[in-house]
Amino acid sequence: MNTQSTTRRQFASDNYAGICPEAFAAMAEANQGHEVSYGNDTWTEKASNLIRDVFETNCEVFFVFNGTSANSLSLASLCQSYHSILGHEQAHIETAECGAPEFFANGSKVLLLPGAHAKIDLKSIEPAVHRRTDIHYPKPRVLGLTQATEVGTVYSCDELRALAEAARRCQLRIQMDGARFANAVVALGATPKEISWQAGVDVLCFGGSKNGIALGEAVVFFNLELAREFDYRCKQGGQLASKMRFLSAPWVGMLQDGAWLRRARHSNAMAKALEAAIRPLPGIEIAHPVQTNAVFARLPDEAARGMHERGWKFYTHVGTEGEARLMCSWDTTPSDVEAFARDLGELTAQASGGGSVK
Ligand SMILES: Cc1ncc(COP(=O)(O)O)c(C=O)c1O
Repeated sequence: MNTQSTTRRQFASDNYAGICPEAFAAMAEANQGHEVSYGNDTWTEKASNLIRDVFETNCEVFFVFNGTSANSLSLASLCQSYHSILGHEQAHIETAECGAPEFFANGSKVLLLPGAHAKIDLKSIEPAVHRRTDIHYPKPRVLGLTQATEVGTVYSCDELRALAEAARRCQLRIQMDGARFANAVVALGATPKEISWQAGVDVLCFGGSKNGIALGEAVVFFNLELAREFDYRCKQGGQLASKMRFLSAPWVGMLQDGAWLRRARHSNAMAKALEAAIRPLPGIEIAHPVQTNAVFARLPDEAARGMHERGWKFYTHVGTEGEARLMCSWDTTPSDVEAFARDLGELTAQASGGGSVK
């Protein structure tokens, strides 16, 4: 077995990266002595308060194990089973959660909206809501937004305000999948509050794992009423950690001195560097604006095959079929970018008939 190809840093997913030092140190510090279980511990209180500081508001915070449960349980708390959730056709809740949102919401249906670069087309919301108003149709109740999106693009503050206005007119609540919220904050140069509760978001799934935490997301309710009995929902859904301090302590490590933003800024910068290195190569097309830590590229088939043969891992099923998704992480280095671009340069040169470039 080629151990190098299984251990070297890859661009397949920001989940491939390990735990960043700030999160790890906090976890180690939390591993002292005994603490109260099930979230009634000092680390969980501290992490929740830091989240309140970051968002500059009072909010209810719950730590769960992963993004699928954060999305599913938060959506379930905004819906009755006969409601529907409007989401982009490429949204994680539709394409990558195995029906969990519908399952946890007892059958609430996800209705799909179009839009370029995985961003919901504002004009599609009202027609989708008013298409049917009869008793036979699942009543639209929630607008689900992903920030940053599944293809790494971001909604600007103005776009979010317009979406929130449409949601208000249609009496929709807003849930935000923020698996890469940190990347969006630094990309926009916005404050966290501007792109969350000030933009009408009722509940945010604040991503930790892609940012550098081992595992876990924070479900942040800005609409306090909607958080009622969410703790029971977490427990029933298998998302109440007994040793909660190990889910919450890493958040303290990330938030207390701004590591969450530094790490996200770095992964975004690496994606920009990767884009710059591969965009000029023959036969490469960058499929979406590179705004956060993702580069989506169309590669010649031969070059994609060659990259896989050389041990590079990346997915081609996440955006539009065939686009290679290249994700940068908190630990991606400029030399990783160079190594990938060098291999791709050689293979694209061969594919375009130019021979090998050294
Ligand atoms: C946009 C988005 N939302 C949510 C998630 C979280 O999913 P998971 O349940 O794998 O932690 C991911 C992970 O890939 C994602 O990309």
